[in-house]
Amino acid sequence: MSAITLSNVSKEYTDGLVNRTVIKNLSIEVSSNQFITIHGPSGNGKSTLLKMISGLIQPTSGTCVILGANPYKGQKGVKWRAKNIGYIFQNHYLLPELTALENVLYMGALAGWKKKIILPRAKQIFDYLSISKQHNSLPETLSGGERQRVAIARAIINDPPILLADEPTASLDRDRADELFDLLLEMSKKQGKTVVMVTHDERYRNKGDASYLLSGQILEKY
Ligand SMILES: Nc1ncnc2c1ncn2[C@@H]1O[C@H](COP(=O)(O)OP(=O)(O)OP(=O)(O)O)[C@@H](O)[C@H]1O
Ligand SMILES: [Mg+2]
Repeated sequence: MSAITLSNVSKEYTDGLVNRTVIKNLSIEVSSNQFITIHGPSGNGKSTLLKMISGLIQPTSGTCVILGANPYKGQKGVKWRAKNIGYIFQNHYLLPELTALENVLYMGALAGWKKKIILPRAKQIFDYLSISKQHNSLPETLSGGERQRVAIARAIINDPPILLADEPTASLDRDRADELFDLLLEMSKKQGKTVVMVTHDERYRNKGDASYLLSGQILEKY
């Protein structure tokens, strides 16, 4: 079953009076349980592509069907995204005034979960990601790797079927980066998540089910 289908999607940004086409007539289909990586030079629209998949940025033209629905139609909004899409942003975007655990619980609340339901699950996830000791820490006091794990915990707290990861290993050393990559791959293979990971790291090319190059407005399979 297809989890993500983009058909002839284009995205134009307007900068003052100038229109700039970043993505042109892009089509891609990602099946449930697939793990894919997207590579490509800086500024070629990789983050834009993830945001269009997630329902955050509407394409200028073309259609997105995510889990059988158009994320831009009807009242999808925050709750739909919180339940269906786990997003690990290019910069972790943890809220600085909340502890690691509070950051994760907040995402649970956005999906409509009561704290007594979501708290035991959050604790399990912190254990699974080996960050239990850091649950009470503010993001600024965590190492880069710990912050990324908290960002992953936040992305998976609502058990969403789709995980989007935007250069999640960029700030990590090689060993930590490999651990994190293996973790995302495991989530796809053991938990059945559909994972789209954007990365500049060529070591991860074709380590999952497929890899694509996004360059000069064109997406092609390696
Ligand atoms: N909201 C916006 N308004 C105008 N232009 C934008 C906006 N967001 C992104 N852009 C432009 O679109 C282009 C693609 O940006 P995007 O962030 O998608 O690239 P990227 O491939 O993720 O780059 P990087 O590898 O550096 O993260 C860039 O030139 C960027 O300046
Ligand atoms: Mg980017």
